[in-house]
This record gives sequence, structure tokens and C-alpha cells, in this order.
Amino acid sequence: MNINWYPGHMKKTRESIKKNLSLVDIVYELIDARIPFSSQNPVIDEILGNKPRLIILNKSDLADDEANNSWKDYFNSKGITCVLVDCIRNKGLDEVVNLTYILTEDKRKSLAKKGIKNRPVRAMIVGIPNVGKSTLINSLSGRKGAKVGNKPGVTKGNQWIRIRKDLELLDTPGILWPKFEDKEVGLNLAFTGAIKDELLDIESLAVKLIERLNRISKSYLEDRYNIAVENKTGYELLLEIGQKRGCIIRGGEVDTEKASNIVLDEFRKGIIGRITLELPSL
Ligand code: G4P
Repeated sequence: MNINWYPGHMKKTRESIKKNLSLVDIVYELIDARIPFSSQNPVIDEILGNKPRLIILNKSDLADDEANNSWKDYFNSKGITCVLVDCIRNKGLDEVVNLTYILTEDKRKSLAKKGIKNRPVRAMIVGIPNVGKSTLINSLSGRKGAKVGNKPGVTKGNQWIRIRKDLELLDTPGILWPKFEDKEVGLNLAFTGAIKDELLDIESLAVKLIERLNRISKSYLEDRYNIAVENKTGYELLLEIGQKRGCIIRGGEVDTEKASNIVLDEFRKGIIGRITLELPSL
């Protein structure tokens, strides 16, 4: 889904999230484990204020294991609790529930002191488009393919989804805008498919991804496409990959668009490997 964010949108989104924040005890901030920094909203700290927060590093199945742990340590070192999740295989969901109880303990205790008992803990999800908010709602609630609201700044009548006897989730996630300013961040969002607008044409994007992957480890492309990457430009490698994959058009030329789609698609699906594009600066 593409959303063009304008200042008006952002203001409305911020207001609607702030309104919903008053209804919940905890926020699940969803980010993409392959690009935790790039997939975080730029003003999330200010929006969430002091509300208990659990960072969910989603799509951890597509990210490098060691890097996943580094990011976990990084957020922990900043005093933010963080959990690795794979929504497709329902991994990490029990930990989400357990941590929710831990992070809301003070709130539950203070309610109990006031004589309010048996009030369920309430949570909401926020995150930029495509990080897996709808998938997480469905996984936590055990539903399949249920529709959830996904227009920025538009709040339907809120509904609560029961996750456990004493835990409820707001059915409408807060859709936040991504970071726009930094070119590297923009590329990371485009590589992972978080933004699908024509930031770059598909061929330039694929070439940049090839160069990026080679910077992280030469073995990714060598192993997947059975090619030698040393001393070759990203474009030369794209041509080689196209040749290997039979992406040939009339006259024997490589169909670079087709080859680009293969590289991007295989990266996004984790077929090239479990790859994290950015590491925390500890
Ligand atoms: P959103 O509501 O935040 O916008 O995201 P949504 O749940 O629609 O998920 C976006 C894509 O990410 C979906 O793929 C979904 O299956 C995938 N996804 C979500 N969580 C995980 C996860 O933990 N691991 C993996 N591997 N994938 C996950 P899609 O339907 O193919 O959509 P698209 O990528 O074509 O947009």
C-alpha cells in the first residue's frame, strides 16, 4: 500500500494515535528487523511519550540471527524492551504477551489499589506501512486474513480484539510515516519493499541492492547466482544474473528489468539469505 504523506496527514495521524494512546496501557512499536533504524518513525519517542512500549522486531526470519541479537542488545541498552518476532510462523508471540504483563505491572497494581480488578490490559500497534501490522494483529488474535483499518488518520469505531482473557488489542493499528530525509534510509525502505513509490527506477534500485549486498558479504550473490563478484560493477553483475536466469530479449540482450525484479524479489523473500542491512552503532 502506498501512502503519500503530507503535513496534514501527519498531523491527523499524530492526533489520532495520541487519542488512542489514552485508551491503551502499552504500545507495540513494530519495526523491520532487517532495517530497524530505517523502519522507525522519526518522531516516535515524542509521539509515545511515557507510555510503556514494546519494540517488536518483526520479520526476524528474514534478518541475520547475530544482527537480530545485536539489535535486541542495543534497544535493551537504551532501556527499551524488545522482542524478535516472525509473524508468518507465529514465533515470539508468547514472549510479546509475557512482556506485556511485565511492562504493565505498575499500571495493573495501581488499578488494583483503586479497587479496579479484572480490567484487561489494552494494547495497540503502531508502525510504518508494510512492517507487518495487519499480519501481527491476525497472528495474535488467531484470525486469518481479517481486515483491519489501514488509512492514515482515519479512525473507525474502535474495536477490541481479545488476545487472552485479560489482554485486548485495538483492531486499528496506528500507521506512521517513514523517515524521508536520508537517502540511505530511503534506499533501505525501497530495498525491503516498505516504500514502493518510484524512488528510483527498478534497475537502479537492483544495481544499488547488488552493490549493498556485496559490501556486506560477497558470498550472498556468489552463492545464490553462482557468479564471481570480485572487481565487477553492480550493473555488470545484474547483466550476469540476467544471463544466468535466462532473462534474454530479442537480439540476445539481457532483459535488465526482469533480472532486477528477480534480485529484488529474491532479496525481499529472504531467498538470497537472511540479511540485515543496517547494524546498531553501539
Ligand atoms: P502492514 O499492515 O504493516 O502494512 O503490513 P502487512 O501485515 O500487510 O505485511 C506486509 C507484508 O509483510 C506481507 O507480505 C506480510 O505477509 C509480510 N510479513 C509480515 N510479517 C512478516 C514476518 O514476520 N515475516 C515475513 N517473512 N513476512 C512478514 P505480502 O502479503 O507479500 O505483501 P507485500 O510484501 O507484497 O506488500
